Amino acid sequence: MKISETVEDARATSRSATISGKRVGLVPTMGALHEGHLSLVRAAKAKCDVVAVSLFVNPAQFGPNEDFSQYPRTFERDRKLLEKEGVHLLFAPSVDEMYPKGASTYVTVENLSQKLCGKSRPGHFRGVTTVVSKLFHIVEPHAAFFGQKDAAQATIIRRMVRDLNIPVEIVVCPIVREPDGLAMSSRNAYLDPQQRKSALVLYRSLMRVQELFNHSERNAARLIAAGKETFAQEPSMRLDYFEIVDPGNLESLSHLSQRSLVAVAAFVGTTRLIDNIELGP
Ligand code: PAF
Repeated sequence: MKISETVEDARATSRSATISGKRVGLVPTMGALHEGHLSLVRAAKAKCDVVAVSLFVNPAQFGPNEDFSQYPRTFERDRKLLEKEGVHLLFAPSVDEMYPKGASTYVTVENLSQKLCGKSRPGHFRGVTTVVSKLFHIVEPHAAFFGQKDAAQATIIRRMVRDLNIPVEIVVCPIVREPDGLAMSSRNAYLDPQQRKSALVLYRSLMRVQELFNHSERNAARLIAAGKETFAQEPSMRLDYFEIVDPGNLESLSHLSQRSLVAVAAFVGTTRLIDNIELGP
């Protein structure tokens, strides 16, 4: 596995693969890899000839009081995991390489970036779309792989790619869960055993909504109320949002007559976790 730390080197490596007729897949990550990330790598391997993984903890997507400095950084472990998966290129730039002094250009998907996590994390999605568009320009992948756990992120990236005519296929892969249902996340590493147990209420509340939906409930307000009621059984958690939206534009739905995204975000201690399910045809 080749490790590139510079934009120039990563671009040259990826371009030479493209020139020799290979299809390049990119898996953007912030490291602290878990099975969810590895499932993206495997999906990329199945669809592409050459797999590039970027590992960059992107300061632009963290708010001033968020966990940028504590975010787990486990480079050696990540490198070994990716090597074992047969990844061809690991792009691991420094902050200065990605954001040279004076960098002042951002990519914003208006409106969508203020929905769901964008409400409580102002500027977060702007940071994501800025770094992802930079990664697309650097690696020039034919396809890029993202997790459904960050469902709003996937919607926003799809919109950015469409609006800016970026020639990349966006592939969104299913959420990978622990055996008890907790969605895999690099931030799960922050949880102590008690918090880890409490965090299961995210999945439980989504399952409650799924159950009512399976019994033909289609009224969004009633489904949300039931999800919140389940959530309230875990008083140590602080709910950020529980919403049902159209996955294409993140607008709230009042009736579930179409494909619908049920999304939840909550704090356990200072750790913010998200989860979601899709319902409908
Ligand atoms: O989903 C993530 O880990 C990040 O938001 C991403 C896409 C790697 C951009 O920094």
